[in-house]
Amino acid sequence: MGGYFYIHNLLYKQSHRKTMSDMKPYQNAEKLLIWLSSKLQADENKLLELTQFIQELDDINYSFFHQIDQITNPPELVSALKKNIFLNSYATQIGSLNIDNILDFDWKHVYQEEDSKNSYINGMFVSRLLGLDGYYRSDRIAFGLMLLLPGVLYPLHTHLVQEFYYCLSGKLVIQHDFDGQSFSLDEGQISVTPEGKLHSLEVVGKNPVLLIYSWLGNLRAPIRIWEKTKSDKWEGFVWTRLPGQKWITSDKKELSDECFKKLYSKYSQNLNM
Ligand SMILES: [Fe+2]
Repeated sequence: MGGYFYIHNLLYKQSHRKTMSDMKPYQNAEKLLIWLSSKLQADENKLLELTQFIQELDDINYSFFHQIDQITNPPELVSALKKNIFLNSYATQIGSLNIDNILDFDWKHVYQEEDSKNSYINGMFVSRLLGLDGYYRSDRIAFGLMLLLPGVLYPLHTHLVQEFYYCLSGKLVIQHDFDGQSFSLDEGQISVTPEGKLHSLEVVGKNPVLLIYSWLGNLRAPIRIWEKTKSDKWEGFVWTRLPGQKWITSDKKELSDECFKKLYSKYSQNLNM
């Protein structure tokens, strides 16, 4: 089956990717992922969890790709990328890509909900470069770019995959566990969140944040986003999505404050979703 897919894709590549402008985002996505592998190798001895991400990056078969159709990037994303993202330092020269190359990628809102006032629904965007969708295909690992507008708080959430962030521009504060210490992520810095760990992200200051993200594990795993209610309980909303689609909310569960804290404390030994 795999062999057939490979041959099929080579034929597809020849027949569909004819013009230089069609191929440019594919070439730039490949360039970015190759650059990331070399960058992570330089940091591997500081963070042992990076080894598996590097191995997956080095195993990418760039003959397996998806067809990306017409691109209509959200205007607020385009404006933020043009005005407030600077990729000037050594740590953020992503394979010599510039902002125009990043704007050539296909970008989407991460979450979909009509008339929402939540900053993470309105102000978070992704461009998927590798995974079940995006430019290149993998069943085991996803990589992409993520943009968070100023003021965005991505609330406490959990998922049963390992998550990786590399900060390219701007500044974030990340919290692990409800009672853990928060830490900041600046340009050129990396964080890895183990599977099942409760965590949140918050943009610091007036500039948007541009990240490279990765998910390693079951790429179809849902996300549970936790919100505290007025009656001191916790509601966990499950978000799921199919390849090529946005995250949509599908289910929720409620926990008492005591139960929530027991499950998601830094002292908890359990892996929870
Ligand atoms: Fe996450």
